[in-house]
Amino acid sequence: MGKYSEVYGASQADPEAFWAEAAKEVSWSVPPTKVLDDSAAPFYRWFADAEANTCYNAVDRHVEAGRGDQPAIIHDSPVTDSKTTITYAELLEHVSRLAGVLAARGVGKGDRVIIYMPMVPEALVAMLACARIGAIHSVVFGGFAAHELAVRINDAAPKAILSASCGIEGSRVIAYKPLLDEAISQSEHKPNFTVILQRPQLEASMEAGRDLDWADSVACAEPVGCTPVGGADPLYILYTSGTTGQPKGVVRHAGGHMVALLWTMKNLYNVEAGDVFWAASDVGWVVGHSYICYGPLLAGCTTVVFEGKPVGTPDPGTFWRVIEDHDVKVLFTAPTALRAIKREDPEGSYIGKYDLSGLQALFLAGERADPDTIAWAQTHLEKPVIDHWWQTETGWAIAANPLGIEELPVKPGSPAVPMPGYSIEILDDAGHPVGPGTLGAITVKLPLPPGTLPTLWNADARYESSYLHAFPGYYETGDAGMMDEDGYLYIMARTDDVINVAGHRLSTGGMEEVLAAHPDIAECAVIGIGDKLKGQAPLGLVCLNAGADRTEADIAKECVALVRQEIGPVAAFKTCLVVNGLPKTRSGKILRGTMVSIANGTPWKMPATIDDPAILDVISDRIAGLGHPVD
Ligand code: COA
Ligand code: AMP
Repeated sequence: MGKYSEVYGASQADPEAFWAEAAKEVSWSVPPTKVLDDSAAPFYRWFADAEANTCYNAVDRHVEAGRGDQPAIIHDSPVTDSKTTITYAELLEHVSRLAGVLAARGVGKGDRVIIYMPMVPEALVAMLACARIGAIHSVVFGGFAAHELAVRINDAAPKAILSASCGIEGSRVIAYKPLLDEAISQSEHKPNFTVILQRPQLEASMEAGRDLDWADSVACAEPVGCTPVGGADPLYILYTSGTTGQPKGVVRHAGGHMVALLWTMKNLYNVEAGDVFWAASDVGWVVGHSYICYGPLLAGCTTVVFEGKPVGTPDPGTFWRVIEDHDVKVLFTAPTALRAIKREDPEGSYIGKYDLSGLQALFLAGERADPDTIAWAQTHLEKPVIDHWWQTETGWAIAANPLGIEELPVKPGSPAVPMPGYSIEILDDAGHPVGPGTLGAITVKLPLPPGTLPTLWNADARYESSYLHAFPGYYETGDAGMMDEDGYLYIMARTDDVINVAGHRLSTGGMEEVLAAHPDIAECAVIGIGDKLKGQAPLGLVCLNAGADRTEADIAKECVALVRQEIGPVAAFKTCLVVNGLPKTRSGKILRGTMVSIANGTPWKMPATIDDPAILDVISDRIAGLGHPVD
């Protein structure tokens, strides 16, 4: 039996013993006596009777252990032409002072704090400061518009919001503060105060009595210590796209999160204290939470906070330059980023310009990694290229190739094998397990392992209906796929209205809600169609009300602007077709799947239940006119 099989087998045979052993890596103020509390199943709580503080584990204990002078964060920002290093001792100072700012204004254990920030070290300082005082942070990705932020403010009801004057996207300075002001004016819940980081590129106007200047407040704050929290107390809420415009607030409990992330740093990514780990993602996504902030810092690594793009800042060699400059051991990014690099540098000539001898492996996640992209990276980097599959909900990999345990053979197109704690079953519609090579819904037998979502914020019933009802006793991942004879998984498609655009998870249902609010739109559909760079791109199809008195082109343009204004630029909603009717079944269900197949050029059949085949013929011609999949 291989080492992986042995470890995985142990996690299945006695999960509590397995995770109790892993929990020894955490410094608990009260160690756990009970590992799993299943008394309220299907709501499970790991390490509920223990106490610890995540910030202590990620910062203080490394300083106490003599790592104070080691870099904790390297901020590499080609867009501002700067590189900054923050040691663990400096990080402790920044975090405990910012925690002091919050605590002095009444933020404490269990209170929510929203963080809306660009890729600057202060974003991590903000997360850790909340963790330090037991407050629950909710980071909102900077590419979301004011309305999306307002929805999250209403749901999380934060006492404070931490933000910055601007972000920088390539060569453009994006003002964040007006979006924050607009969001606060739209939301019913109002925060007591905000703390704003003024960046030199753009000064934000401040509202007296509500907005505090970050630098000034921190300068005169009293540093505060760590507040122990329960193992099953929330560390953060991270909103993610579901079927509707109302995002799901994924809750992360403090104890299991630390245990799971520490396990992955060693066993999956094969890094240890002192190594440099770089997740080229954004703090607003789960990858940013787990592997820009918490995972590397919990493990005493140095984390790279990169403020730039894979191409254009300034060239497709940026990633390789960062690896050489900071001696990065592991790079974690989304396949889209590699596709962007490959498009500009197909021969990989920039790769040869840099010394990548310190790079141990490249990990990919966030969307399907196409075999071409994996092959390109393997050929030019000559390093293991490891696809792994996970979700905001799980917080860490469900399936991967665990380099720290055993490097398994790579099968392009597969994120490899289940990780410990995940008992994966592929089920048919009736809930029966299917055999190897057969497509089905990918599910995980309950309970999920530590670090995964225990519920949704203020929405236990939605948690059950979204994830647990379809297959009793199992967590439904929302992904369809199969497992081969060797136990390798293949992730094929989402089973819901979630699409993945450039590694960003978006809801087509949410976009439809925005379009439906346009006064001239009678009905609409948004589908995700193949895009050579971004994996998927949204396509809108809208039918107008009788009497709409502007041109179709004008209305299509307004629709594009509306989605950008309401959801944000991250939606990348650029194409909208005005059509006379949408193809439907006789019972009125829009045939979205058929339209996706048409757009992607995959085989499709005229559905037997279709109401009016002529409508589908017209749509088919219109979609063909777009020339998708686009380059
Ligand atoms: N703040 C404000 N705006 C943002 C933003 C942020 N944090 N992130 C993205 N945007 C904006 C972009 O500027 C762009 O706006 P535009 O329509 O005005 O050009 C829009 O949102 C779409 O962004 P993106 O999808 O990132 O596309 P891009 O064209 O800027 O870059 C890639 C293309 C492929 C280089 C880029 O998508 C990329 O690096 N993707 C990797 C994604 C990733 O790491 N995902 C994490 C999942 S693990
Ligand atoms: P997010 O919650 O933003 O991390 O998105 C999670 C979704 O992205 C998953 O449910 C999958 O649909 C998709 N995804 C993430 N990683 C992979 C992968 N390695 N292969 C295929 N799809 C992936």
